[in-house]
Amino acid sequence: MVYAVIMAGGVGTRFWPKSRKSNPKQFLNLFGETSMIQQTAERLQGFVEEKQVVVVTNKDYVSLVEKQLPSIEPMNIIGEPVARNTAPCIASAAALLNKKDPESVMIVLPADHRIGSPNEFKRVLETAVETAKTQESLVTIGIKPNRPETGYGYIHRESDIEMKNLNHPVYRVQEFTEKPDQETAQDFFESGDYLWNSGIFIWKTSTILDAFKKHLPKIFTESEKLKKSDFKTEDVRRFYEACPPISIDYGIMEKAEKVHVIPGDFDWNDVGSWTAVHELSDKESEENSTVKGKAVYVNSSGNYISTNGKKLVAFAGVDNVALVETDDAILVVNLDQAQDVKEIVEKLKENE
Ligand code: GDD
Ligand code: MG
Repeated sequence: MVYAVIMAGGVGTRFWPKSRKSNPKQFLNLFGETSMIQQTAERLQGFVEEKQVVVVTNKDYVSLVEKQLPSIEPMNIIGEPVARNTAPCIASAAALLNKKDPESVMIVLPADHRIGSPNEFKRVLETAVETAKTQESLVTIGIKPNRPETGYGYIHRESDIEMKNLNHPVYRVQEFTEKPDQETAQDFFESGDYLWNSGIFIWKTSTILDAFKKHLPKIFTESEKLKKSDFKTEDVRRFYEACPPISIDYGIMEKAEKVHVIPGDFDWNDVGSWTAVHELSDKESEENSTVKGKAVYVNSSGNYISTNGKKLVAFAGVDNVALVETDDAILVVNLDQAQDVKEIVEKLKENE
């Protein structure tokens, strides 16, 4: 049986003031009338049944998940008492699914990505599931880089295709490097043999649990205990409190021996900042985009305005700026420095 595991534990600080601790990015309608997590679940329709979808999130967001995705089985929502990054999150879901079905395959997906061409996405997943089953390897979907980004994992693939009989070429991975420095990212980008790690993983639950046993034995031991439990709040709490915080990328992907990558030929964006939201939004003339409400632009281009719809906004001679309004805050940020929103949030915390 094929299951999907949606990781939805992030806090989305770069999306302040819309994204708040109580209602982070993955639960916001940044594009259209549904949230990012709803769009993630929707994208799986026709490939993974709703009752085979697991969501792992902070315990404080469980009710948001229940509200936004009412068809998910309550038993399939894991509420984390503490954030321990993606490795424990994946281990807890693997334990749950492996207990249900030792032959299960899990597709791990971030809750907050934007993906175009859903049909191609599903075709790639089909190839990935087939590879994970027959090769018993860790499979990831790679994206062709278009810049030397340092915030992603890089996958050095072998030059020859390993499996040609499927819908897409499947390559063996030589090396996985999580978040390289600027110089290394530049070399990887120029070489042409590297793909970005999309953050979407496909593997048999038994394969990933074996990888935990080898590379993160403490998390494996705890996952074995969790697997024997009833996954009650108390069992989940014990598991998370005992696990060290580490990402799957540093903890397993960089170390594992048998990894495959399938290049994903669909539009992919991890929506890392307001700049990405602007890029992905519908534009009026002069590349301005207005979400809700009304805006007037004079000699202004490349702006993003998102208000709560009550006020008219007028820009004259303003380029490349995002203005985001909520009931209690207004953000104005240069779209070349949208990463700095994280610093605003830190500053606000200091002043709390
Ligand atoms: N449940 C849960 N618990 N989810 C978490 C946790 C956690 O403690 N930490 C992160 N997540 C979720 C986030 O909400 C997001 O959907 C996903 O896991 C990935 O975490 P990020 O924190 O966004 O990772 P990243 O963007 O720095 O890096 C990863 O994604 C890149 C692509 O977007 C890595 O896999 C990179 O290699 C990859 O290139
Ligand atoms: Mg991310």
